[in-house]
Amino acid sequence: MSISASSDDDRGQWGSKLGFIMAAAGSAVGLGNIWRFPYVTGENGGAAFVLVYLVCVFLIGVPLLYVELALGRASGRNPVGAFQKTKPGTPFMFTGILCLMACFFVLTYYGVIAGWTISFAWSQITQTPLVFSEYIAKPGTVLPVFAGFIALTIWIVSAGVEKGIEKWSKILMPVLFVMMLVIIGRSLTLEGASKGISYYLNPDFSKIDGKVVLMALGQAFFSLSVGWGLMITYGSYMPKSQNIVSNGLWVASADTLVAILAGFMVFPAVFAFGMDPGAGPGLTFVTLPKVFAQMTAGWVFGAIFFCLLSVAAVTSSISMLEVPVSYFVDDKPKARKKAAIMVGIFAFLIGIPSAMANGGSEFFSNMELMGKTGFLDIMDQVFGTLCLIVISLSLSIYVGWIWKTEPAVKEISEGCPWFTQPMVAGISPAQIWAFFVKYICPVVISLVLVNALGLFDKESPEPAPKPKTEQAVPTQTSPEDNASSPSQ
Ligand code: PHE
Repeated sequence: MSISASSDDDRGQWGSKLGFIMAAAGSAVGLGNIWRFPYVTGENGGAAFVLVYLVCVFLIGVPLLYVELALGRASGRNPVGAFQKTKPGTPFMFTGILCLMACFFVLTYYGVIAGWTISFAWSQITQTPLVFSEYIAKPGTVLPVFAGFIALTIWIVSAGVEKGIEKWSKILMPVLFVMMLVIIGRSLTLEGASKGISYYLNPDFSKIDGKVVLMALGQAFFSLSVGWGLMITYGSYMPKSQNIVSNGLWVASADTLVAILAGFMVFPAVFAFGMDPGAGPGLTFVTLPKVFAQMTAGWVFGAIFFCLLSVAAVTSSISMLEVPVSYFVDDKPKARKKAAIMVGIFAFLIGIPSAMANGGSEFFSNMELMGKTGFLDIMDQVFGTLCLIVISLSLSIYVGWIWKTEPAVKEISEGCPWFTQPMVAGISPAQIWAFFVKYICPVVISLVLVNALGLFDKESPEPAPKPKTEQAVPTQTSPEDNASSPSQ
């Protein structure tokens, strides 16, 4: 493992620029892109949502991505250490703790959903169709695949930064991309695919309202892995010679490209077979298997699709496990393996109620908190939604006003000298970035927070339409809903 001169210990470091990009893109590209992005787009009006999403990614998500990378590389520390080292003694250290908690607790239910994708891949390969609502209600099948998924994640993380995460991301990301192209090729050549393409590409601007904007921003945070302290950790493994600006842009572009391509896999096929694009979270697990069943040799494409989802999920889950592990091993790198195993096992145990929350256990399926029903949904609301928004807000305030943008700009311009050079009208990219971090991000994120707390809901005269799912559900809420929205 290569060690930089600036690194004061044996924490590990990315071996190359490509290594960082693949690992960070691997984290960003996940269930959020392939499973969540298409159904959220379908629920929010298609092309118009996609446009708003793109604006959110590049105007809010990318500036915050630079915030995290700069903080990580400047401190060379995990999220808690990063706040302690850059400005000791501020309460922002608690933001670091929230980062560890968000990654850990989201891993506990992300692993459950990832387990479902493995079972669905297997069901396509063996050509034994699974009924989604029945499958997720059976702990006897859900728990073993969940355990297997967590074990795989532990195995990769315990191998270390370069030999584990970097190596596997470099292999798995191109595989994922090729699998996507195969499915898109099939989807686009189906008879009737053009209706789906026009739904996906012709925006109807009347569909854009406040809620759509907020949904798009929430999706952007979730998908870019921004607001989890994850990019602080990954930034801390980045050598000073690497360019934060271009690396960050590569990661954001790759993540966005995969999300957009996921739409090209899903919508042409959904329209070609007359399915409902607004089917909600079940779009992947309920609608798509039906689409595959109607295709010639559909099981081959189905198997590729669900393997793709599993691969995307594993490159994301390793990054979620890495954040708490980095906290435990920052001062004692030899303990990496032990820390990965301990944290992973703990994540599995805490995840058991989520695995039982879709009919497996009446108690965990029906419990209610903050307007959500079921343990998985509650975890998602608390850690995958609220925590994330609070962290993003606190990060922009910390770097904009407490640590101040100057040291961050200095960090970013190392490896990217043009960042501080005046460009158009004598303004430098650094000045634009600082303006966004100090003013635009805190204001916009505060709006998202208000929305997430449900304060806007009271004003809306009509309740949002329920996702139309296609089958009966065993629990009070639809299992598709329970599996829903690791985001706002
Ligand atoms: N960005 C990932 C996705 O789209 C989720 C994720 C968030 C992964 C944070 C790791 C850390 O699914």
